[in-house]
Amino acid sequence: MQTPLLQVKHISKTYQNSKGWFRNEKVQAIKSVSFDLKRAHTLAVVGEAGSGKSTLARILAGEMAPSAGDILLHGQNLNDTNQRQRCMDIRMIPQRPSLSLNPRLRVGMQILAPLVQHRSLTRSLRQQKLYATMRDVGLLEEHADYYPNMLSASQRLRVTLARAMIVDPEVLVFDQTLSAMDITMRAQLINLLTMLQQSRGMAYIMIGHQLSMIRHLADDVMVMQQGEVIEFSPTDEIFESPASEYTQRLIYAYNELVQGPNS
Ligand SMILES: Nc1ncnc2c1ncn2[C@@H]1O[C@H](COP(=O)(O)OP(=O)(O)OP(=O)(O)O)[C@@H](O)[C@H]1O
Ligand SMILES: [Mg+2]
Repeated sequence: MQTPLLQVKHISKTYQNSKGWFRNEKVQAIKSVSFDLKRAHTLAVVGEAGSGKSTLARILAGEMAPSAGDILLHGQNLNDTNQRQRCMDIRMIPQRPSLSLNPRLRVGMQILAPLVQHRSLTRSLRQQKLYATMRDVGLLEEHADYYPNMLSASQRLRVTLARAMIVDPEVLVFDQTLSAMDITMRAQLINLLTMLQQSRGMAYIMIGHQLSMIRHLADDVMVMQQGEVIEFSPTDEIFESPASEYTQRLIYAYNELVQGPNS
């Protein structure tokens, strides 16, 4: 059997509150979360507010360490990989991508930033890589000289995608990235991500409740509640026969929206 691209094994995270009334109180944000993700596959993660989705995302992207558990990429434990490499392999797209751009820097420089930090490439190779990545996400070469405010919202989103992709990551994590988008932009992004997944074989982890997006993109859906995984199934199964009460509510509300209340 082929080793899955990503294996998450019994990840837990306990936060220690350092401020306020509940100082020194511990919050167990996620408890023994495990799953596998194959190359070119998409996993959707849904769950109530505070169920631990962002905590999981940040741990995967290397922003913080888990309290316990292991993450393996190509069968290799990420604890044994250096932090730099690891941050290139799994990258997170922020919730409001436009806000993560610096208004005073040309977008070409911003897309290149992770590459400059991470790799010693010649100037001309870097330039080639920049233009190739920009083309991949549907930007033009001349956009490299623009400032973010000269671009449309959709183009700015493409800039943040290009910035994540310039280091050839294997996994992209989207934490509620689509929730603030209008329908047109969401549709554009879904098409773009589908295309990029086919050409590059990237795996996606999509956090959020956009069920139409989940239906289009996700192979599997993982449902979290109070830090635990309560359901993990192929997307079709989740939509046809949701098992947990939370998932049932989510799916029924979606069906009502799509088909009308009386169907
Ligand atoms: N830095 C932190 N310090 C202490 N507790 C935290 C911290 N970050 C998150 N928590 C707590 O951990 C739990 C999980 O939070 P998390 O942000 O991962 O949930 P979430 O599923 O992403 O929620 P949402 O849907 O609102 O984004 C919550 O109880 C939250 O209050
Ligand atoms: Mg969150």
